[in-house]
Amino acid sequence: MGQLKRFLAEQLGDDVRYVPSSYDVVGSRGGAVAIVEFPEGAPDHVKLAVAEAIMRINKHVRVVLEKASERKGVFRLREYRVIAGSGSTEVIHVEHGVKLKLDPTKVYFSPREATERLRVARQVRPGEFVMVMFAGVGPYALMIAAVQPGVKGVVAIELNPLAYEYMVENVRLNKVEGKVIPVLGDVKVAARGWYGMCDRVVMPLPKGAHMFLDRAFQCLKPEGGVIHFYHWAPEGDLYSEAFALLEREAVLRGMRVKLLDARIVSEYAPRVYKVCIDARVLPE
Ligand SMILES: C[S@@+](CC[C@H](N)C(=O)[O-])C[C@H]1O[C@@H](n2cnc3c(N)ncnc32)[C@H](O)[C@@H]1O
Repeated sequence: MGQLKRFLAEQLGDDVRYVPSSYDVVGSRGGAVAIVEFPEGAPDHVKLAVAEAIMRINKHVRVVLEKASERKGVFRLREYRVIAGSGSTEVIHVEHGVKLKLDPTKVYFSPREATERLRVARQVRPGEFVMVMFAGVGPYALMIAAVQPGVKGVVAIELNPLAYEYMVENVRLNKVEGKVIPVLGDVKVAARGWYGMCDRVVMPLPKGAHMFLDRAFQCLKPEGGVIHFYHWAPEGDLYSEAFALLEREAVLRGMRVKLLDARIVSEYAPRVYKVCIDARVLPE
């Protein structure tokens, strides 16, 4: 039984079945927001009890939000409903020492992906020039600069103007000006400025990254490099489609791909997973 369920078992009786087994906390000691997803039909008194319990367990949580829609649109945002607390939803989240200022109601951010970002960042070698497409408020780019201070540069492209503004501020907060280069724009267009310059391209947009593979390949140096490609896949066949998409793009460009790693990052929906393929791209 999860911590919340144990905490509320006596108070809620049978209704404890509506208590979620986990929730997200975005922010830090200075102030945080908790985000909860309830099962269909959860009554209001359960939601309130859960929110109050979360605030008692996490003293720094000032607002508890309920997820009120799926993620939508190109900015990958969802709607939220306040269940308890008040005040600003802008926070400073700290992830493995990286400071990220953001408002989770206005920009995409998932604290659950911290381990994945660290995994990617640890692969970066000194002297590499890296592109992070779909950069959000900068968590991948900033993690790379923190874990590999010898990185030559990290260009980070984001379309949501508010996420870009937070990224610019986060570059300052983490003192990596000149090392992390935030760019506001559509990857389709903005990537052109870096054709042939990158050793590594990170593509964290499972909904549609494949439509930008042409740009990723064009950004790699002529001798090739590494692509971290995110995709959604069904439980029964996690990697074939993602790898086939990479291979198809490689063939079109007279290159080949070598699989370095393939892994599940998180569960997106029942029996649908967000997966990542790390692939080395080489001239044929
Ligand atoms: C799944 S989120 C990932 C954000 C960030 N990398 C992270 O891990 O928190 C995808 C991001 O890509 C941005 N985006 C979507 N389409 C884009 C495009 N064509 N060019 C640049 N950014 C785009 C969205 O605004 C969103 O912030």
